Amino acid sequence: MLKFVKTWWSITILHIEIEQPIVCLEFFSGIGGLHYGIQESGISYRMAMAFDMNENANDVYEYSFGQRPNNKAIDYLTIQDIDRHKADCWLLSPPCQPYTRGGNYGDNDDPRARGLMHILDLLPQLQHRPSYILLENVMNFETSQSRNLLIKVLGKLGFKFYECLLSPIQFGIPNNRLRYFLIARLRRPDPCILENKSNCQVGLNTTHICSEHTMWLSENIKLTENYLSQGKEVIYTEWPFGPAVKTITVKEIIQRPLYSYVDTNQNTVLTLQVSASDILRRRRLEFDIVQPSSTQTSTFTKAYGSKHLIGSGSLLQTQQMDITENGFNAPEKLLNLGLRFFSPKEVARLHHFPEKDFKHTLKFPSRITQRQQLQLLGNSLNVHVVAQLLKHILFCE
Ligand SMILES: C[S@@+](CC[C@H](N)C(=O)[O-])C[C@H]1O[C@@H](n2cnc3c(N)ncnc32)[C@H](O)[C@@H]1O
Repeated sequence: MLKFVKTWWSITILHIEIEQPIVCLEFFSGIGGLHYGIQESGISYRMAMAFDMNENANDVYEYSFGQRPNNKAIDYLTIQDIDRHKADCWLLSPPCQPYTRGGNYGDNDDPRARGLMHILDLLPQLQHRPSYILLENVMNFETSQSRNLLIKVLGKLGFKFYECLLSPIQFGIPNNRLRYFLIARLRRPDPCILENKSNCQVGLNTTHICSEHTMWLSENIKLTENYLSQGKEVIYTEWPFGPAVKTITVKEIIQRPLYSYVDTNQNTVLTLQVSASDILRRRRLEFDIVQPSSTQTSTFTKAYGSKHLIGSGSLLQTQQMDITENGFNAPEKLLNLGLRFFSPKEVARLHHFPEKDFKHTLKFPSRITQRQQLQLLGNSLNVHVVAQLLKHILFCE
């Protein structure tokens, strides 16, 4: 943007203001759901580096973004590995197993929580800390020790945060995927960054600015302790949340029909058909069956598309639409309903991964099988929800 500015010595000079893209790091990047989220938000950004140790996910990430994530285990990243990027914004979706029944609710003691614990350990030691953070996880994370530690670390560093449990269905998308999100923003610029930062770090408080800063930080720590003492009360469960929301109104949220996500050409694809033997093996269990006219689907997990038909995600009925059955007592009644899995493309659509109109769209290299695609998508997240939360923390605050 070009701007004419009158200076104090009364000469008009030409300023060139360049909008600086916000520099991001994506931890536990998978296939890049959070990267697509910041892309959809419209915020000017540069993804400096993504980190993930799953090479299938990294192949997809590289194929779609032209940038290969660092495959070093996050537990072993050094201060330099992170500081060198001078990132303003961190996007994180750490493994969810430590906070699930399947993972025995191991919380901080689960080895899969080590990556997150390590990052929280490094954060206060960095020369260049981020000003914005978004973290995604499963429901239950909000009651974990990991969450308490995360909040304490952020509070000590001067962050303000919002925590919420939200599902795409609240954004007009016919998919349930209730997830925990934390969005955090540094409360105000760290004055020590402007002054000599090391004075503050050794606790000498040698300058006026540093002592002011220390007082302000202890205030933030008190606020955080008070916040933590309120338990679950502080977690938002509705969207839009908070008085700061100016740009989004409830009226703008329009419920989108499921049929607009369905590709009927997939109805005859053999690899998507649910086999009769897998259906008949289930007794006294309810199948989750939807039709294109349905208003919602359930969460797609990484087991979707496998033999685990119950609880891994909705099956699509493609025939005899006048019949509604869940197969509880008689699974044989389901055999003529043309049950199929949603294709990876349809699941990606329900997660709002971009197919067009954006610089980066989700593409799978041909060597990634249908099952692997569904696995990776089952581990991923809803891009639209992330975009809305990022807009909230970057524009509305
Ligand atoms: C919940 S998934 C994140 C999915 C991602 N948000 C997406 O959109 O696909 C967690 C990811 O963390 C990766 N991961 C788990 N532990 C890790 C570690 N210690 N170091 C690096 N990556 C790790 C897994 O490979 C997986 O891709």
